[in-house]
Amino acid sequence: MNDAAAASPPARIVLARPDDWHLHLREGARLNSALAFSARQFARAIVMPNLPEPVTTAERLRRYRAEILAALPADSDFRPLMTLYLTDETTPHTIREAAADATACKWYPAGATTHSAKGVRDFRKLYPALEAMRDAGLPLLVHGETADADVDVFDREEFFLDNVLSRARADFPELKIVVEHISTQAAVRFVEENKNTAATVTAHHLLASRNDMLAGGIRPHYYCAPILKRRADMEALRAAATGASGKFFLGTDSAPHAICEKESPCGCAGVFSAPFALELYATVFEECGALHRLEKFASFNGPDFYGMPRNKTTITLEKTPQTIPETFSFGETEAVPFLAGKTIPWRLQ
Ligand code: DOR
Ligand code: ZN
Repeated sequence: MNDAAAASPPARIVLARPDDWHLHLREGARLNSALAFSARQFARAIVMPNLPEPVTTAERLRRYRAEILAALPADSDFRPLMTLYLTDETTPHTIREAAADATACKWYPAGATTHSAKGVRDFRKLYPALEAMRDAGLPLLVHGETADADVDVFDREEFFLDNVLSRARADFPELKIVVEHISTQAAVRFVEENKNTAATVTAHHLLASRNDMLAGGIRPHYYCAPILKRRADMEALRAAATGASGKFFLGTDSAPHAICEKESPCGCAGVFSAPFALELYATVFEECGALHRLEKFASFNGPDFYGMPRNKTTITLEKTPQTIPETFSFGETEAVPFLAGKTIPWRLQ
């Protein structure tokens, strides 16, 4: 291969089928709309439990999984990986009951994000549940932000890692912890420095910074929790995701809301990236000159950390530009996808 050929990116990439290690599928008619986008691209997805009636029991978890499976097309082999929503009252018994059907448990600090009101208020009350999780081999997935009103919204992730998660991390060294949707340089460092600790990285935190959301106008479809940070944070996330470490993997945190819930005086947090998730990640990896690392990030690091098999089938991405539609139908309403109206260079075959 000559130098020119070596430098020019390939027109096609074939990857082991990827998984989405952080996804919001919603319920009812909205689930039907959201699920199709993910099932088309991913073999498995970690399904978030922050429903209006959160997934706090084994029975609720099985009911939600049945609803998801019923919404899949008959020929789909997509596998939802279920998570249990932790509260101050979650008992070791509940963990043991859910263990057969759950892949992990989710810690939402109460008030940190959408439908987190029933989440964790006093993390020390979680300790008996964390012991049971450690013993059952269930990873802890963390929304790593404080809900403390005195802490600046842009500092909430770093504050939580320094003052809360670092203590739980030290007290349960064998527990696998995934810091979800990391958004700061501080979080990259936390993950690198701690054993048994990994992170999901979203496409939107890799492609946008707070300037995209706030400079020259306020753009509600970029608003998410954790909120987009500085350009330097975005660059640190890019370096982590495209680097050699196995601790960072694909988790879209695709979180669709109806247009009217986003374009509102008090809009909901959530970026709807599921329709073109893989193409968005391919765009970032190409920009970073790291397409050769995409498969590791999207298809290998996640299952390796969770101790699950890598997928055997493949998907193909082609270098064919496509323009992202302005809206998609979303149950009884419509939702605006991330980068609506923009053209991206890759297309899933
Ligand atoms: O932006 C977000 N949206 N972050 C979350 O943590 C929750 C999610 C949602 O469910 O809408
Ligand atoms: Zn989420």
